[in-house]
Amino acid sequence: KWPKGVTIKEVGPRDGLQNEKTFISTEDKITWINQLSESGLKHIEITSFVNPKWIPALSDATAVVTGITKVPGVTYTALVPNLYGLERAFQANIDEVAVFMSASETHNLKNINKSIDQTFPVLRDLVRETISAGKISRGYVSTVFGCPYEGHVDIDSVIRVSDRLFEMGIAELSLGDTIGVANPKQVQEVLEVLLKRFPADKLAMHFHDTRGSALANILISLEMGITIFDSSLGGLGGCPYAPGASGNVATDDLLYMLHGMGIHTGVDQNKLLHASQFIQEKIGRTLPSKSFQAASSG
Ligand code: HMG
Ligand code: MG
Repeated sequence: KWPKGVTIKEVGPRDGLQNEKTFISTEDKITWINQLSESGLKHIEITSFVNPKWIPALSDATAVVTGITKVPGVTYTALVPNLYGLERAFQANIDEVAVFMSASETHNLKNINKSIDQTFPVLRDLVRETISAGKISRGYVSTVFGCPYEGHVDIDSVIRVSDRLFEMGIAELSLGDTIGVANPKQVQEVLEVLLKRFPADKLAMHFHDTRGSALANILISLEMGITIFDSSLGGLGGCPYAPGASGNVATDDLLYMLHGMGIHTGVDQNKLLHASQFIQEKIGRTLPSKSFQAASSG
Protein backbone atom coordinates (compact mmCIF):
# COMPACT_ATOMS: atom_id res chain seq x y z
CA LYS A 1 0.00 0.00 0.00
CA TRP A 2 2.74 2.51 0.93
CA PRO A 3 5.62 3.43 -1.38
CA LYS A 4 9.15 2.29 -0.41
CA GLY A 5 10.51 5.79 -0.75
CA VAL A 6 9.48 9.38 -1.36
CA THR A 7 11.28 12.46 -2.62
CA ILE A 8 11.28 15.52 -0.41
CA LYS A 9 11.70 18.92 -2.02
CA GLU A 10 12.87 21.36 0.62
CA VAL A 11 11.46 24.84 0.01
CA GLY A 12 12.40 26.47 3.33
CA PRO A 13 15.02 28.90 2.03
CA ARG A 14 12.51 30.21 -0.53
CA ASP A 15 8.90 29.69 0.63
CA GLY A 16 10.02 29.62 4.26
CA LEU A 17 11.93 32.87 4.27
CA GLN A 18 10.03 34.96 1.71
CA ASN A 19 7.40 36.02 4.24
CA GLU A 20 9.60 36.43 7.33
CA LYS A 21 9.73 39.87 8.89
CA THR A 22 13.26 39.31 10.18
CA PHE A 23 15.76 39.71 7.36
CA ILE A 24 18.06 36.72 7.52
CA SER A 25 21.53 37.85 6.50
CA THR A 26 23.04 36.44 3.31
CA GLU A 27 25.76 34.78 5.35
CA ASP A 28 23.21 33.02 7.59
CA LYS A 29 21.14 31.92 4.60
CA ILE A 30 24.25 30.41 3.06
CA THR A 31 25.22 28.63 6.28
CA TRP A 32 21.69 27.25 6.59
CA ILE A 33 21.49 26.08 2.97
CA ASN A 34 24.89 24.40 3.36
CA GLN A 35 23.54 22.53 6.40
CA LEU A 36 20.50 21.43 4.37
CA SER A 37 22.80 20.28 1.55
CA GLU A 38 24.66 18.01 3.98
CA SER A 39 21.48 16.34 5.31
CA GLY A 40 20.75 14.03 2.40
CA LEU A 41 18.09 16.30 0.86
CA LYS A 42 18.49 16.08 -2.91
CA HIS A 43 16.31 19.04 -3.94
CA ILE A 44 16.46 22.46 -2.32
CA GLU A 45 14.65 25.57 -3.49
CA ILE A 46 17.02 28.22 -2.29
CA THR A 47 15.67 31.61 -3.36
CA SER A 48 13.63 33.51 -5.93
CA PHE A 49 14.58 35.97 -8.65
CA VAL A 50 11.44 38.09 -8.34
CA ASN A 51 11.12 41.85 -7.99
CA PRO A 52 12.97 42.63 -4.72
CA LYS A 53 10.41 45.35 -3.99
CA TRP A 54 7.75 42.64 -3.84
CA ILE A 55 9.85 40.18 -1.82
CA PRO A 56 12.56 42.08 0.08
CA ALA A 57 13.46 39.02 2.17
CA LEU A 58 15.03 37.39 -0.88
CA SER A 59 16.62 40.46 -2.44
CA ASP A 60 20.05 38.82 -2.07
CA ALA A 61 19.24 35.94 -4.45
CA THR A 62 22.40 36.25 -6.55
CA ALA A 63 24.71 36.37 -3.55
CA VAL A 64 22.99 33.33 -2.04
CA VAL A 65 23.15 31.18 -5.17
CA THR A 66 26.77 32.07 -5.86
CA GLY A 67 27.77 31.84 -2.19
CA ILE A 68 26.64 28.34 -1.25
CA THR A 69 28.79 25.25 -1.44
CA LYS A 70 27.03 23.09 -3.99
CA VAL A 71 26.98 19.43 -3.08
CA PRO A 72 27.15 17.05 -6.07
CA GLY A 73 23.86 15.21 -6.53
CA VAL A 74 21.79 18.04 -5.01
CA THR A 75 19.59 20.07 -7.35
CA TYR A 76 19.33 23.74 -6.44
CA THR A 77 16.18 25.52 -7.58
CA ALA A 78 15.05 29.13 -7.77
CA LEU A 79 11.60 30.56 -8.36
CA VAL A 80 11.50 32.79 -11.45
CA PRO A 81 8.57 34.96 -12.68
CA ASN A 82 9.81 36.44 -15.98
CA LEU A 83 12.70 36.63 -18.46
CA TYR A 84 14.48 39.29 -16.44
CA GLY A 85 14.44 36.94 -13.46
CA LEU A 86 15.66 34.12 -15.69
CA GLU A 87 18.63 36.18 -16.83
CA ARG A 88 19.55 36.81 -13.20
CA ALA A 89 19.09 33.10 -12.36
CA PHE A 90 21.27 31.99 -15.27
CA GLN A 91 23.99 34.47 -14.33
CA ALA A 92 24.04 32.87 -10.89
CA ASN A 93 24.10 29.42 -12.55
CA ILE A 94 21.04 27.90 -10.90
CA ASP A 95 20.31 24.21 -11.72
CA GLU A 96 16.53 24.29 -11.89
CA VAL A 97 13.97 27.00 -12.58
CA ALA A 98 10.54 26.89 -10.95
CA VAL A 99 7.82 28.84 -12.75
CA PHE A 100 4.56 29.63 -10.99
CA MET A 101 1.02 30.83 -11.50
CA SER A 102 -2.36 30.37 -9.89
CA ALA A 103 -5.52 28.50 -10.79
CA SER A 104 -7.57 31.48 -9.56
CA GLU A 105 -7.59 34.79 -11.43
CA THR A 106 -7.44 37.14 -8.41
CA HIS A 107 -4.54 35.42 -6.68
CA ASN A 108 -2.62 35.34 -9.95
CA LEU A 109 -3.17 39.07 -10.38
CA LYS A 110 -2.21 39.96 -6.79
CA ASN A 111 0.84 37.70 -6.85
CA ILE A 112 2.33 38.42 -10.27
CA ASN A 113 0.39 41.41 -11.55
CA LYS A 114 -1.04 39.64 -14.59
CA SER A 115 -4.18 37.79 -15.59
CA ILE A 116 -3.93 34.04 -16.13
CA ASP A 117 -4.08 34.47 -19.91
CA GLN A 118 -1.36 37.15 -19.82
CA THR A 119 0.83 34.78 -17.78
CA PHE A 120 0.84 31.84 -20.21
CA PRO A 121 3.08 33.43 -22.88
CA VAL A 122 5.52 34.66 -20.20
CA LEU A 123 5.90 31.19 -18.73
CA ARG A 124 6.08 29.57 -22.16
CA ASP A 125 9.14 31.70 -22.99
CA LEU A 126 10.65 30.97 -19.57
CA VAL A 127 10.27 27.21 -19.91
CA ARG A 128 11.58 27.23 -23.49
CA GLU A 129 14.69 29.24 -22.56
CA THR A 130 15.30 27.10 -19.49
CA ILE A 131 15.18 23.87 -21.43
CA SER A 132 17.34 25.20 -24.25
CA ALA A 133 19.93 26.20 -21.65
CA GLY A 134 20.00 22.53 -20.59
CA LYS A 135 18.33 23.19 -17.23
CA ILE A 136 15.25 21.67 -15.60
CA SER A 137 11.95 23.48 -15.44
CA ARG A 138 9.49 22.84 -12.63
CA GLY A 139 5.98 24.28 -12.48
CA TYR A 140 3.78 25.38 -9.60
CA VAL A 141 0.06 25.88 -9.72
CA SER A 142 -1.20 27.79 -6.67
CA THR A 143 -4.66 28.00 -5.08
CA VAL A 144 -5.57 24.47 -6.30
CA PHE A 145 -7.74 23.82 -3.24
CA GLY A 146 -8.99 27.32 -2.53
CA CYS A 147 -8.19 30.99 -3.09
CA PRO A 148 -7.85 33.67 -0.38
CA TYR A 149 -9.82 36.09 -2.57
CA GLU A 150 -12.28 33.89 -4.47
CA GLY A 151 -12.81 30.97 -2.12
CA HIS A 152 -13.76 27.89 -4.12
CA VAL A 153 -11.57 27.13 -7.15
CA ASP A 154 -13.06 25.13 -9.96
CA ILE A 155 -11.23 21.94 -10.94
CA ASP A 156 -11.56 23.02 -14.58
CA SER A 157 -9.32 26.02 -13.86
CA VAL A 158 -6.74 23.71 -12.28
CA ILE A 159 -6.88 21.39 -15.30
CA ARG A 160 -6.56 24.26 -17.75
CA VAL A 161 -3.46 25.73 -16.07
CA SER A 162 -1.90 22.28 -15.51
CA ASP A 163 -2.43 21.26 -19.14
CA ARG A 164 -0.81 24.44 -20.38
CA LEU A 165 2.19 24.11 -18.07
CA PHE A 166 2.84 20.52 -19.15
CA GLU A 167 2.44 21.51 -22.83
CA MET A 168 5.16 24.12 -22.27
CA GLY A 169 7.53 21.32 -21.21
CA ILE A 170 7.80 21.47 -17.41
CA ALA A 171 9.31 18.30 -15.94
CA GLU A 172 7.04 18.23 -12.90
CA LEU A 173 4.03 20.08 -11.55
CA SER A 174 3.63 20.99 -7.89
CA LEU A 175 0.01 21.39 -6.76
CA GLY A 176 -0.20 24.17 -4.21
CA ASP A 177 -2.58 24.41 -1.28
CA THR A 178 -1.39 27.99 -0.89
CA ILE A 179 -3.49 28.90 2.15
CA GLY A 180 -3.79 25.45 3.72
CA VAL A 181 -7.51 24.90 3.29
CA ALA A 182 -7.58 21.41 1.74
CA ASN A 183 -8.96 18.33 3.43
CA PRO A 184 -8.20 14.69 2.51
CA LYS A 185 -11.53 14.12 0.74
CA GLN A 186 -10.92 17.12 -1.48
CA VAL A 187 -7.34 16.02 -2.15
CA GLN A 188 -8.64 12.62 -3.19
CA GLU A 189 -11.23 14.15 -5.53
CA VAL A 190 -8.72 16.51 -7.16
CA LEU A 191 -6.10 13.77 -7.57
CA GLU A 192 -8.63 11.34 -9.03
CA VAL A 193 -9.18 13.84 -11.84
CA LEU A 194 -5.56 14.90 -12.35
CA LEU A 195 -4.13 11.36 -12.25
CA LYS A 196 -6.28 10.49 -15.25
CA ARG A 197 -4.37 13.14 -17.19
CA PHE A 198 -0.85 13.12 -15.74
CA PRO A 199 1.38 10.34 -14.37
CA ALA A 200 1.82 10.26 -10.59
CA ASP A 201 5.59 10.67 -10.88
CA LYS A 202 5.11 14.05 -12.56
CA LEU A 203 3.01 15.47 -9.72
CA ALA A 204 4.21 16.89 -6.42
CA MET A 205 2.04 18.10 -3.54
CA HIS A 206 2.73 21.45 -1.84
CA PHE A 207 0.68 21.74 1.32
CA HIS A 208 0.71 24.71 3.66
CA ASP A 209 -0.25 23.69 7.18
CA THR A 210 -2.34 26.72 8.10
CA ARG A 211 -5.14 24.61 9.58
CA GLY A 212 -3.18 21.55 10.66
CA SER A 213 -4.36 19.23 7.88
CA ALA A 214 -1.15 18.97 5.83
CA LEU A 215 -0.02 15.56 7.10
CA ALA A 216 -3.49 14.10 6.62
CA ASN A 217 -3.47 15.47 3.09
CA ILE A 218 -0.05 13.95 2.47
CA LEU A 219 -1.23 10.59 3.75
CA ILE A 220 -4.13 10.45 1.29
CA SER A 221 -1.80 11.64 -1.50
CA LEU A 222 0.58 8.78 -0.66
CA GLU A 223 -2.30 6.33 -0.82
CA MET A 224 -3.12 7.64 -4.27
CA GLY A 225 0.41 7.06 -5.53
CA ILE A 226 2.04 10.48 -5.12
CA THR A 227 5.68 10.25 -4.02
CA ILE A 228 6.98 13.83 -4.26
CA PHE A 229 6.28 16.34 -1.48
CA ASP A 230 7.37 19.92 -0.91
CA SER A 231 8.07 20.90 2.68
CA SER A 232 9.85 23.55 4.67
CA LEU A 233 12.20 23.02 7.57
CA GLY A 234 10.57 23.88 10.88
CA GLY A 235 7.31 24.70 9.09
CA LEU A 236 8.49 28.15 8.05
CA GLY A 237 6.75 29.98 5.27
CA GLY A 238 3.81 31.48 3.50
CA CYS A 239 2.94 33.60 0.50
CA PRO A 240 2.89 37.36 1.22
CA TYR A 241 0.27 37.80 -1.50
CA ALA A 242 -2.11 35.31 0.10
CA PRO A 243 -3.63 36.78 3.28
CA GLY A 244 -3.68 34.29 6.10
CA ALA A 245 -1.20 31.92 4.50
CA SER A 246 1.18 30.35 6.99
CA GLY A 247 4.04 27.90 6.71
CA ASN A 248 4.48 24.80 4.60
CA VAL A 249 4.18 21.39 6.16
CA ALA A 250 7.31 21.05 8.29
CA THR A 251 10.03 18.84 6.82
CA ASP A 252 10.73 17.69 10.39
CA ASP A 253 7.12 16.49 10.87
CA LEU A 254 6.96 14.90 7.43
CA LEU A 255 10.18 12.95 8.04
CA TYR A 256 8.97 11.82 11.46
CA MET A 257 5.81 10.39 9.89
CA LEU A 258 7.46 8.85 6.82
CA HIS A 259 10.40 7.29 8.64
CA GLY A 260 8.07 5.93 11.30
CA MET A 261 6.08 4.25 8.52
CA GLY A 262 9.25 2.70 7.10
CA ILE A 263 9.20 4.96 4.04
CA HIS A 264 12.70 5.86 2.89
CA THR A 265 13.69 9.50 2.17
CA GLY A 266 17.49 9.45 2.28
CA VAL A 267 17.43 12.39 4.70
CA ASP A 268 19.25 12.34 8.05
CA GLN A 269 16.84 13.66 10.70
CA ASN A 270 19.65 14.36 13.17
CA LYS A 271 21.48 16.61 10.76
CA LEU A 272 18.28 18.49 10.06
CA LEU A 273 17.69 18.98 13.77
CA HIS A 274 20.79 21.17 13.88
CA ALA A 275 19.63 23.07 10.81
CA SER A 276 16.22 23.71 12.46
CA GLN A 277 17.93 24.90 15.63
CA PHE A 278 20.14 27.21 13.61
CA ILE A 279 17.30 28.87 11.70
CA GLN A 280 15.08 29.09 14.79
CA GLU A 281 17.78 31.11 16.52
CA LYS A 282 18.19 33.41 13.53
CA ILE A 283 14.43 33.92 13.06
CA GLY A 284 14.08 34.59 16.77
CA ARG A 285 10.78 32.83 17.31
CA THR A 286 9.65 29.30 18.03
CA LEU A 287 9.30 27.26 14.84
CA PRO A 288 5.86 25.70 14.24
CA SER A 289 7.13 22.13 13.72
CA LYS A 290 5.80 19.91 16.50
CA SER A 291 8.29 17.10 16.05
CA PHE A 292 11.14 19.62 16.13
CA GLN A 293 9.83 21.08 19.40
CA ALA A 294 9.42 17.57 20.83
CA ALA A 295 12.96 16.64 19.77
CA SER A 296 14.37 19.88 21.19
CA SER A 297 12.74 19.47 24.59
CA GLY A 298 13.23 15.71 24.85
P1 HMG B 1 5.55 44.11 -12.18
O1 HMG B 1 5.67 45.28 -11.27
O2 HMG B 1 4.29 43.93 -12.98
O3 HMG B 1 6.83 44.03 -13.14
O4 HMG B 1 5.80 42.80 -11.33
P2 HMG B 1 7.28 44.92 -14.34
O5 HMG B 1 7.72 43.97 -15.39
O6 HMG B 1 6.27 45.98 -14.66
O7 HMG B 1 8.58 45.63 -13.71
C1 HMG B 1 8.49 46.57 -12.65
C2 HMG B 1 9.86 46.71 -11.96
O8 HMG B 1 10.23 45.44 -11.40
C3 HMG B 1 11.00 47.09 -12.90
O9 HMG B 1 11.91 47.88 -12.15
C4 HMG B 1 11.66 45.76 -13.19
O10 HMG B 1 13.01 45.88 -13.52
C5 HMG B 1 11.50 45.05 -11.88
P3 HMG B 1 11.84 49.50 -12.17
O11 HMG B 1 11.96 49.84 -13.64
O12 HMG B 1 10.51 49.87 -11.58
O13 HMG B 1 13.01 49.87 -11.32
N1 HMG B 1 11.50 43.59 -12.06
C6 HMG B 1 12.39 42.75 -11.52
N2 HMG B 1 13.46 42.94 -10.72
C7 HMG B 1 14.16 41.86 -10.38
N3 HMG B 1 13.86 40.59 -10.78
C8 HMG B 1 12.80 40.37 -11.56
C9 HMG B 1 12.02 41.49 -11.97
N4 HMG B 1 10.94 41.59 -12.74
C10 HMG B 1 10.64 42.88 -12.79
N5 HMG B 1 12.51 39.14 -11.94
C11 HMG B 1 6.53 40.54 -11.04
C12 HMG B 1 5.74 41.53 -11.90
C13 HMG B 1 6.16 39.15 -11.48
C14 HMG B 1 8.02 40.78 -11.27
C15 HMG B 1 6.17 40.79 -9.56
O14 HMG B 1 4.80 40.71 -9.43
C16 HMG B 1 6.82 39.81 -8.64
O15 HMG B 1 8.03 39.85 -8.42
N6 HMG B 1 6.01 38.86 -8.04
C17 HMG B 1 6.54 37.80 -7.24
C18 HMG B 1 5.67 37.60 -6.05
C19 HMG B 1 6.17 36.43 -5.26
O16 HMG B 1 7.37 36.12 -5.25
N7 HMG B 1 5.27 35.72 -4.55
C20 HMG B 1 5.60 34.62 -3.73
C21 HMG B 1 6.02 33.41 -4.49
S1 HMG B 1 4.65 32.44 -5.08
C22 HMG B 1 4.22 31.40 -3.77
O17 HMG B 1 4.68 31.60 -2.69
C23 HMG B 1 3.32 30.22 -4.03
C24 HMG B 1 4.06 28.88 -4.11
O18 HMG B 1 4.78 28.64 -2.91
C25 HMG B 1 3.06 27.72 -4.33
C26 HMG B 1 1.89 27.75 -3.37
O19 HMG B 1 2.09 27.79 -2.14
O20 HMG B 1 0.77 27.70 -3.87
C27 HMG B 1 5.06 28.87 -5.28
MG1 MG C 1 3.97 27.90 -1.09
